[in-house]
Amino acid sequence: MALPKDYAINIQGVRMELNIDGNAALVTASTSGMGLASAEALAREGANVAICGRTPERLTQAREQLADVGEGDVLAAEADVTAPDDVAALVEATVEEFGGLDHLVMSAGDPASGRFLDTTNEEWIGAMETLVMSVVYTAREAHAPLEESDAGTMVAITATSAQEILDAAALSNSMRRAVSGLLETLAREFAPEIRVNEIQPGPTETESLAGVIEDAVERGDYPDYETGLADWATDAPLGRVADPQEIGDVAAFLSSPRASYVTGASLPVDGGTIRS
Ligand SMILES: NC(=O)c1ccc[n+]([C@@H]2O[C@H](COP(=O)([O-])OP(=O)(O)OC[C@H]3O[C@@H](n4cnc5c(N)ncnc54)[C@H](OP(=O)(O)O)[C@@H]3O)[C@@H](O)[C@H]2O)c1
Repeated sequence: MALPKDYAINIQGVRMELNIDGNAALVTASTSGMGLASAEALAREGANVAICGRTPERLTQAREQLADVGEGDVLAAEADVTAPDDVAALVEATVEEFGGLDHLVMSAGDPASGRFLDTTNEEWIGAMETLVMSVVYTAREAHAPLEESDAGTMVAITATSAQEILDAAALSNSMRRAVSGLLETLAREFAPEIRVNEIQPGPTETESLAGVIEDAVERGDYPDYETGLADWATDAPLGRVADPQEIGDVAAFLSSPRASYVTGASLPVDGGTIRS
């Protein structure tokens, strides 16, 4: 018997008391989806939060949404995380605005989907930039200010494909593993000053997943959106896809001193989908 969707909705907007009031957080790729949900969770706990994205209108909308969530300050900056100069300017602006940096949460865009023989060289390079190099650039720039903090943390949002191969996802299956290896390396190299952890979400009802389902409905693969959404939850023992806040809350927890002995961890937040 599936848990009702209300199960997730009932925790909407509820504070966890994570002891990060007044801390400075930067969340990348965060005008939508799990990045925005992580920014909201950190803001709700009293942190000052910087967000970024490439589209000015989405930035304005996300900033307004965040301003209503917590009592901390919000910085919304246009930045493409695949552009090293943008990332350097973003970290610098965050440190300048908030007087330092305590928490970094890294989300990203999507790689192209498809089986190996359907992928092009350009798509491989694009996926490498979107998923791997974005973390390389951001972790490198954020290292110094995070090391100066007495609460420095990094959390990256990847996918369950980092642990268990997905069908028709050659790029995700490959690049997520590179990111996992990088994060485990950073957890060792940046300890003890900075804790580094990974969240591996299963299907989560963000704009991105909603778009995939709507396209499938249009192609005639599903009779309607709800049937498509249920199909994405087939493998999850909890019987539903995640609400973005359920990922954001875990990102805030891992960023907080309540997770002070957790580093180098790869945590599936997938309703029990991964069997290993
Ligand atoms: N949703 C799922 O079911 C699911 C499950 C597992 C893993 N994931 C992965 O989790 C990550 C986030 O997914 P999501 O569903 O939360 O996505 P989403 O709702 O589509 O949000 C993506 C956000 O990232 C921003 N963004 C994309 N590319 C960027 C770039 N190069 N530089 C700066 N910002 C960028 C987007 O804004 P702009 O486009 O305006 O820049 C948007 O704010 C993706 O890597 C996705 O593959 C998703």
